[in-house]
Amino acid sequence: MKNTNKKYIALDKFIDKALYNKKSGFYMKKNPIGKNGDFITSPNISILFNEMIAIWVVSFWEYLKCPKKINLIDMGGGNGEMVYQMLKTFNSFPLFKNSCKTYIFEKSPLLKKLQKEKLKTFNISWLKNLKNIKKYPTLYLANEFFDALPVKQFLRKKKSWLERYVKVENNNYQYCHLNFDIKRLESKIGINISKNQKFIEFSPLQFQYLREIAKTIKKNNGGLLIIDYGNKKNFMKDTIQSVYNHKKNELFNNVGDSDITHHINFNLISEIANNFKLKCSNIITQSKFLINLGILKRAEIISKNLSFSKKANIYYRLKRLIDKNQMGELFKVILLTKTNTFFNKGFESD
Ligand SMILES: C[S@@+](CC[C@H](N)C(=O)[O-])C[C@H]1O[C@@H](n2cnc3c(N)ncnc32)[C@H](O)[C@@H]1O
Repeated sequence: MKNTNKKYIALDKFIDKALYNKKSGFYMKKNPIGKNGDFITSPNISILFNEMIAIWVVSFWEYLKCPKKINLIDMGGGNGEMVYQMLKTFNSFPLFKNSCKTYIFEKSPLLKKLQKEKLKTFNISWLKNLKNIKKYPTLYLANEFFDALPVKQFLRKKKSWLERYVKVENNNYQYCHLNFDIKRLESKIGINISKNQKFIEFSPLQFQYLREIAKTIKKNNGGLLIIDYGNKKNFMKDTIQSVYNHKKNELFNNVGDSDITHHINFNLISEIANNFKLKCSNIITQSKFLINLGILKRAEIISKNLSFSKKANIYYRLKRLIDKNQMGELFKVILLTKTNTFFNKGFESD
């Protein structure tokens, strides 16, 4: 990342530049996702993941009584694999397929180009602005989207609060802290976010997207399914992680070449969504969600009559998705809908 004239940059602006600067941002200059990339996401681990999400989407549409038109929006399309596999699955549901208009909401021009190439045989569109969705029930899918958005951090100092900034000097970075009026933020977001906290992590962009999505869901019907690395603890802490070449990295090293993420605070998402008068499902682990949707049965079906090595490969990938020491419990799922929606497929508890 280039030095800038500004000496102090708010932490979220620093992360935004590191990830999304047009020239030097991590997501803007190469495809970081997949076997040869910096990280791999569930849609790229196993086709079973995409099939389960596709079935879930079709079930939601059936719950809505099969509307003739429905929008499906993939938030942050990555390398396009999830949409690609889902659209293939939709071939088995022709009525749904004919009713569904698929969009990808993607910031990186490079990833958009990759997605366009991969999906060129399908009839889908790219959404420039979430506000461009004007009508029809709309389902938003956010797999590892929110954890890639920039966050702000605030620290309590006795009775007042400080905002974390990055001091930039000759391409050297250092944290510094400036006074912050937390009450102003609290009145803007309508949440008493500092209550019982010594530390706050908050993404203004996440808040903005939730607000826009909530507006559309309340007006048109639909839902937002969030699947992400995160926790449901009430007590906030610093969850920012930087990874360079598959290894943990100091935030200020390899800026622009490292993946910077944070853990989603699912409780805060629920609180924000409730404030927007949306209904929140229970927060469930990825493992439970996928098992509820029938991933084990599907693995059994597709591995029937396959050679031992192919079968082993399917189960190895399945294990990555649902094992509690891998993605199974670290990843959580939540669904936000209108208050009069009673759809809980995938969220059933025992
Ligand atoms: C961690 S990747 C996840 C990709 C994909 N959902 C998957 O699971 O493979 C995050 C994606 O969100 C995109 N993204 C990040 N911030 C965005 C924003 N503000 N608007 C649209 N897309 C964004 C990134 O470019 C990338 O495609």
